[in-house]
Amino acid sequence: MTRDPRRDAFEALAREAHEDLPTNTAQAPTLGDVIAARFGRRDLLKGLLGVAAIAATVAPRAMAMAAESAAAKMPDRFPFPELTAAADETIHVADGHRADVLIRWGDPVLPGAPAFDPHAQTAAAQRMQFGYNNDFIGFIPDPAENDRGLLVVNHEYTNPELMFPGIGLQRARNGFPGMTRERVDIEMAAHGGAVIGIARKDGRWSVVPVPEARRITATTPMLLTGPAAGDTLLKTQDDPEGRHVLGMVNNCAGGVTPWGTWLTCEENFNLYFSGALEGHPRAAAMKRYGVPAGFTAWSRFHDRFDVSKSPNESNRFGWVVEIDPRDPAWTPRKRTALGRFKHEGAGNVVNSDGRFVVYQGDDQKMDYVYRFVTARPFDPLNRAANRDLLDEGTLSVAVFHADGTGEWRPLVHGRGPLTPANGFANQAQVLIEARLAADALGATRMDRPEDVEVNPKTGRVYVMLTSNDTRKEDEADAANPRPNNVFGHIVEITPDGGDHAAERFAWNVLVKCGDPSVAEVGATFSAATTGNGWFANPDNCAVDSEGRLWVSTDGNSRGKTGRTDGLWGVETEGDGRATAKRFFSVPVGAEMCGPYFTPDDATFFAAVQHPGESEDGRLSTFDDPSTRWPDFTPDMPPRPSVVAITRIGGGRVGT
Ligand code: FEO
Ligand code: CA
Ligand code: CA
Repeated sequence: MTRDPRRDAFEALAREAHEDLPTNTAQAPTLGDVIAARFGRRDLLKGLLGVAAIAATVAPRAMAMAAESAAAKMPDRFPFPELTAAADETIHVADGHRADVLIRWGDPVLPGAPAFDPHAQTAAAQRMQFGYNNDFIGFIPDPAENDRGLLVVNHEYTNPELMFPGIGLQRARNGFPGMTRERVDIEMAAHGGAVIGIARKDGRWSVVPVPEARRITATTPMLLTGPAAGDTLLKTQDDPEGRHVLGMVNNCAGGVTPWGTWLTCEENFNLYFSGALEGHPRAAAMKRYGVPAGFTAWSRFHDRFDVSKSPNESNRFGWVVEIDPRDPAWTPRKRTALGRFKHEGAGNVVNSDGRFVVYQGDDQKMDYVYRFVTARPFDPLNRAANRDLLDEGTLSVAVFHADGTGEWRPLVHGRGPLTPANGFANQAQVLIEARLAADALGATRMDRPEDVEVNPKTGRVYVMLTSNDTRKEDEADAANPRPNNVFGHIVEITPDGGDHAAERFAWNVLVKCGDPSVAEVGATFSAATTGNGWFANPDNCAVDSEGRLWVSTDGNSRGKTGRTDGLWGVETEGDGRATAKRFFSVPVGAEMCGPYFTPDDATFFAAVQHPGESEDGRLSTFDDPSTRWPDFTPDMPPRPSVVAITRIGGGRVGT
C-alpha cells in the first residue's frame, strides 16, 4: 500500500507536536470577556497598538491612515537594509553583513577527534566532535583579551532520519526499526553541549584549540544539588543517594551568569522515557510532565530510560544545569532550587539589591512563567562566593491579572496550598513537581513560554510566547488574548519599582504576531512593519548592549504561518514600538536559535538548528534531504551549525 508522503512528513513533525501537547488540565480562571474590556480600556488608549489589535473589525482604510502617520514618526534604531523574506536552501543576512559558518555537527572539539564521516559514525567519535542541533549559545570573553573567548553551545536533540543513512523516519509504534545500540549511543553522545575556544583575527572568528574544550553528553556525570538533592523521589537503583545523575538531555536555551558559568536548561526530557506506568502511585504527576513519551529508542538499550524499570530516573531530568566552562574538573550541577519543568532558558539579571534573578519559561501549551531569586547577593569581587548561589532562593510563578498588573506567587512548602494535606510532602516535592505546585497556586496558563529576557537598559522583561493552537474561545485571557493562537505573541513585564525581586509587576502585550495584512490573524505589528518585517512564533531572543531587542523564531513555514524562521530586530520604544524588521534567514526546515552578541555587538552568533527537517508535507531524510546546507556536497547531509555574523568593514551588527 502506498503511503501518502504528506502523512509521513506530518508524522516526522509529530515529535514537535507531541512536545507541545498541553498536559495542564488545571482550570485557572480564564476570562473571555476580559479581552473586550482590555481593548476598550488600555490598548485603545495606546493608539496604534490598539488600532491593529482590533484589525479584524476595522476598515482597511483606517489601517492605512495609521500606517502613514506611524511611518512619519518612526525613529529607526535598526537602520540596516531589510532582508527580503526568503525560503530556500541556504542562509541569508541583511546587506552590509556577512554570515560565516563557525562550527558544524561533527567538526572536531577535542584533540584527536576523527574527521567527520556521516557514513561511518561511531559514538566514540561523536563524543569528541561537535554535537547535533545546536541551540543556546553563550560567549564568555577571555578576561585578558577582547578577541578570544569560550563559546558554550547546547545540543538539544537529534534527528535520526537526517543523521543516519538509509533509515528514514523512526517511530515508536513500529519499534524504531533502524535504531541500533550504536546509533542510540551516537544520539546520546550528540546531545548535551560543547565548550570550544574561539579567536578573532581581522574581524573573523575561528575555532582554536584550548584546554577548556569539552563535550558534555547524555552520559556525563553530574550532581543534583539544592533543596531536592537526596530526596527519595530522586533515588534510583544506580544512585541510592539521589545525588548523582548521568547526563543532561534536550538542553534548549540557557544563560551565562555574571560569574562566568553557563546555565543550560533541560526542556522536553519526557521524550526520552518509555515504558508503562500503570499502578504507579505517581502516575498522575508524571503524566503532568508528559512522562513517558516514548519518542526515542533509548529505553531499548538503557534501562534507566524505561519508567517501568526505573520510575524515578525521569525526576532527575528537567532541571537547570550549571557548568563552569573555565573549570572542566568542576562537576556540572543540576540546580534543583530553580524547579523542575520543561525549561526553555535562563534569562537573568543582578537585581538592584545584588540578588541574582533568573526568569524562566516552561515551554508547553498552557504552562507557566517562573522567576527564581537567590537568597544571597552576587559577589562581583569573589567568584568562589558565587559557587553555590543557585542552591538557595525562592522560585515563584507568574499570575497575570486582567487589569495589566501581575504578581509572583512563591513555591514555598507550607505556604498557601502547598501543604502535606494537598499532597506536597516537603520542599523537595514542591520543586520536583513544580508544575503541580504552580497549578495549585493558580498560575496563569500561557501560550508556550519560551525565552524570558531582561533588557538591562530599561529593566523591562520580555516573554516570548510561541503559540498555542489548543486555546479555546472561552480560554482566552488578558495575557493570552487569542484563541487558537497559531502565531504567538510577546508580553512585556515591568517589575514594580524596577525591583526584579518585587512581588508585583505591570505587564503589556508588546506585539501579537502573524501577518498583519490578514485581518483575521489579528497581528499588532506597527503599521510601519513591512511585508518582510512581520514574523510569527517568537522563541529565543537577545538584547544587545544598546538595549535593542532581537527575536528569533521557531515553527514558521510557508504552509503554516506564511513565513520561514529567522531573526528580526524589534523596536520596543517610542512611536516605532512593535515595528519588526527582518535581518537573517535560516534554510528550509531549520529553526533559528541562540542569538548571542559579543559585548562589543560586533559579532552576533546564530545557531541554525535542524536544517532540512521535514515541513509542509516535504518528507526530508539523510538520503533525500530538503537542503544540504552548509556543505552542499552530495555525500554530506544537512548539518546543524553555528554561524558568526559580522558587519562588513566592522562595527556594530544591525546598524
Ligand atoms: Fe527547545 Fe522551546 O524550544
Ligand atoms: Ca527554543
Ligand atoms: Ca523551539
